Amino acid sequence: MKEKIADIRGQIEADAGQLNSPEAVEAFRIRYLGKKGAVTLLFKELGSVDKADRPEVGKLINELRALTTEKMNGAAAQAGPIRSKDWIDLTLNGRRPAIGRKHPLTIVAEEFRQIFARLGFSVAEGPEVESDYLNFEALNIPKLHPARDMQDTLYISDELVLRTHTSPVQIRTMMTGNPPFRVIAPGRVYRRDTLDASHSPCFHQVEGLCVDKGVSLGDLKAVLSTFSKQMFGANTKVRFRPSFFPFTEPSAEMDIWWESSKGGRWLELLGCGMVNPRVLEGVDVDPAVYSGYAFGLGIDRMAMLKFGIDDIRTLFENDMRFLEQF
Ligand code: DAH
Repeated sequence: MKEKIADIRGQIEADAGQLNSPEAVEAFRIRYLGKKGAVTLLFKELGSVDKADRPEVGKLINELRALTTEKMNGAAAQAGPIRSKDWIDLTLNGRRPAIGRKHPLTIVAEEFRQIFARLGFSVAEGPEVESDYLNFEALNIPKLHPARDMQDTLYISDELVLRTHTSPVQIRTMMTGNPPFRVIAPGRVYRRDTLDASHSPCFHQVEGLCVDKGVSLGDLKAVLSTFSKQMFGANTKVRFRPSFFPFTEPSAEMDIWWESSKGGRWLELLGCGMVNPRVLEGVDVDPAVYSGYAFGLGIDRMAMLKFGIDDIRTLFENDMRFLEQF
C-alpha cells in the first residue's frame, strides 16, 4: 500500500508539471480526485488495510490529497477558467465598427437646406415621375414650344415624363396652398444625356420659390447673393446676366467668381427670375396682388465646385476610395 501511494505521488508530481491549460487542470482533477480518481480510490482501499497500519496509511493518503489539491489550485490559478465556445474576452480591444460618411451630394444639400432654413424657406417635395403638364405646360412651356429643346426629355408615356427639373414642385406647391410661399425643393432630375465627365442622365437640383405681396428683383438678388456667400465663402462675388426661361420674366443667370490654380473666371451657378405672371395665373394666384421669384441650380455642380471634383461620374459610382475623402 505504501509503495502504491509513493507511485501515485510520483505520477502526481510528474503530471502537475504539465498543467498548462484549464482543460489539463480539469483532467488532472478527474484523474486523481474524481469519483474514480486514483487518490479517491486509495481512501476506499484503506478499509482493507491492517488495523494497526491504518492510521499511518490514512495520514499518507491525506497528505497526498492535500498535495494534489495544492498542485491543482496552483495550476488553476495560472491557467484561468475554462473557456466555453462562445466565450467573450471583455479585456480585448474592441473592433471599431466601420462608420459611414455622408455623400458629398448629401453634405451640400444639407448645407443648402440649412442656409435657406435661416432665410425662412421650408422644404417641399415632388415625384420623379411627373406629368408632362406640371413639368412643362404649367411652367409656360407648351407642347412643341422650342423651349422644350433646352431639356432632352425621357418620356414614360405621352403624358408622363421623368422630371427634367425640379421646377414642377413650384407648381405643386402653389396648387396645394395659399400664398405666401417660401420653399426650396431638392431632388433628382433626369435628362436624355450621354454619361461623360460633365453630363449624367440623372442628376440633382434644388428649386427655390418665394411668392408674396411686394416681392421684387431686389429680394431675389439679396437672397441669392447671401446664399452664395454662406455656401462658398464671405468674399464670393456674384453677377447676374439676363437670360431666358419661359416660367420667369425677367430671367437671369447668376455667376460666381471662381478662383482656381488656372486663375479666376466667372462660373454659371444658377438660373433665376421673377415668376412669370402667366404661371401665377395658371395656379390661381393673382399677379396683380402677388409677385415672386424662383431659382434653380444643380446640387452636383455645387458639390463639384465646393470639393474640387472634376468628374460627375464619381458621384454615382459609389467607389469607397472616393467617398472616404469627404
Ligand atoms: N428649371 C431650370 C433648368 O432646369 C432652372 C431654373 C431656371 C429654375 C430659372 C428656376 C428658374 O426656378 O427661375 O434648367
